Amino acid sequence: MAIRALPQELIRAKRDGQALAPEEIGELVTGVSDGSLSDAQVGALAMAIYLNGMNAAETVALTEAVRDSGEVLVWRGLGQGLDLPGPVLDKHSTGGVGDLVSLVLGPWIAACGGYVPMVSGRGLGHTGGTLDKLEAIPGYDIAPTRERFRRLVREAGVAIVGQTAELAPADRRLYAIRDVTATVESLPLIVSSILGKKLACGLDALVMDVKTGSGAFMPTHEASFELASTIAEVASRAGTPTTALLTDMSQPLAPCAGNAVEVREAIALLTGEKTGDKSGDESGDKSGGRLLEVTRTLAAELLLAGRLARDHEGALALLDERLASGAAAERFARMVAGLGGPADLLERHDRHLPGAAVVRPVYAERSGRVTRMDTRALGLAVVTLGGGRRAPSDGIDHSVGLSGIAALGEAVDGERPLAWVHAGSEADAERAASQLRAAIEVNDVAPGDVVLPTLIQDVIRREAP
Ligand code: URA
Repeated sequence: MAIRALPQELIRAKRDGQALAPEEIGELVTGVSDGSLSDAQVGALAMAIYLNGMNAAETVALTEAVRDSGEVLVWRGLGQGLDLPGPVLDKHSTGGVGDLVSLVLGPWIAACGGYVPMVSGRGLGHTGGTLDKLEAIPGYDIAPTRERFRRLVREAGVAIVGQTAELAPADRRLYAIRDVTATVESLPLIVSSILGKKLACGLDALVMDVKTGSGAFMPTHEASFELASTIAEVASRAGTPTTALLTDMSQPLAPCAGNAVEVREAIALLTGEKTGDKSGDESGDKSGGRLLEVTRTLAAELLLAGRLARDHEGALALLDERLASGAAAERFARMVAGLGGPADLLERHDRHLPGAAVVRPVYAERSGRVTRMDTRALGLAVVTLGGGRRAPSDGIDHSVGLSGIAALGEAVDGERPLAWVHAGSEADAERAASQLRAAIEVNDVAPGDVVLPTLIQDVIRREAP
C-alpha cells in the first residue's frame, strides 16, 4: 500500500473507516511524540480511532509504535556482569479496589528467580494505585535514577517505580488528549496505551489481570473478556508471550482498601501472618483469601511463561516454598530499603506506616448476610476520605482507608461490622460510614442463598508467534 504522507490524509482515511498501514501508524505516532502533530490533529485521530476502531494488525502496529516512541529497556547483551541471569517478567492489572497484587507478586516472583522491573501508576478514579500505596512507606523513592533502578532489579530481583519521561512518551501525550476529548473508552487505544508502556520495559513475558464486576474499569463480563483477549493477542503478536486472567472485582480483592492499610496487608501475606496461625486484621481474618489466590495464580502463570517451573503444580510448589521460607518477604524488604525506605519495615511496620486519627467499626443497619456490593462506591469512599485524588495535583492522606471489609456471603451483626473506617476526623468517618452502608447490601438469607462470583473466570494464554 502506498503511504499517504500528510497527517490530515491519514486522519481522513481513518475517519472514513479505512485501515492504516503499519508504516502510516508509525508516522502518526512519531508525530505525536515529536510534537509535529498538533493537539487538534491528535484529538481528531483519537476520535477517528474511537469511532471506527482498528483491526488486529493496526492495533499491533499502534502498540509497537507507542512502545518504540521512547527508550525500550534492554537487560541482556550488556556485558560487564550487567546481564540478568533469569527471565524478565511483569504483571499489569486494569485496576480495582483492594488490589495490592503487585506488592506481593513482584517480590514473590523475584524470590523464584524472575526479574521484575515494574513500572506502575497512581490511583485512577475509584481504583487505587500501586505508587500511592508505596509512597505510604516513608522515604520510598518512586523515581530513582535509571542506574539505581537497574541495579535494584539486578540485586533484589524487583523494583516497583513510576513511569519516566523516557518511557513511551507518545502515550503520555495521547492519553492526556484522550482524557479531554472523550476518547478514553476505545479498545485499540486502551490496549496500545497499556501495552506500549509495559512492553517498553523489555519483558520476556507478561501476565495481565483484567477485572470484571462492579469495581472494574469495564464492569461487564463481555467487555472485560474482549479486553483480556485483545491484550493477550496483541502483546504476543508484538513479541511478548502474554497470559490474561479475567478475575472478579464484584467485591474488594483484599479485605482492605487504602494506602498504608494495603501495605500492611501485603506485609501480613508476605511474612505469613495471614496463613492462619497468627492474629489477623481487626475482623480476625487470617486467611489471605481471594488476594492470595489471585496473586498465586498470576505468579504461577509468570513462572511457567518464564520457564522457571515445568508445569502448573511445580510453579505452585515453588511459590509456596518461597513464601513459607520468608524469601519473598526478604525481597520486598530489599526493594524497600534499596529505594530509600526503612530497613526494618517488615518488623516495625506499625512504627513506620502512618495510622489514621480515627479508626472505628461501621455496623450494618440490620443483621444478615452481605448479598451484594457496589465495589466502585467503596473505592470512591476511600477517595472521599482523602486516600485518592479529586484533581491530578492533589496530595493524598496515606493513613486513611477501610479494613476488615466483610466478604460477600459473610454474616454481619452487632458484633461483626461491615468494615473498619480509618479517617482523618470523626466527621470524615461518619461520611464514610454512610457511604459504606449504602454500598454494601445486607439481607436476611441463608448462607447458600448468596451466589458467590467465580474468582478466576478465564485464563487466556498466547505464545509469541
Ligand atoms: N490505563 C492506561 O494506561 N491506558 C488506558 O488507556 C486505560 C487504562
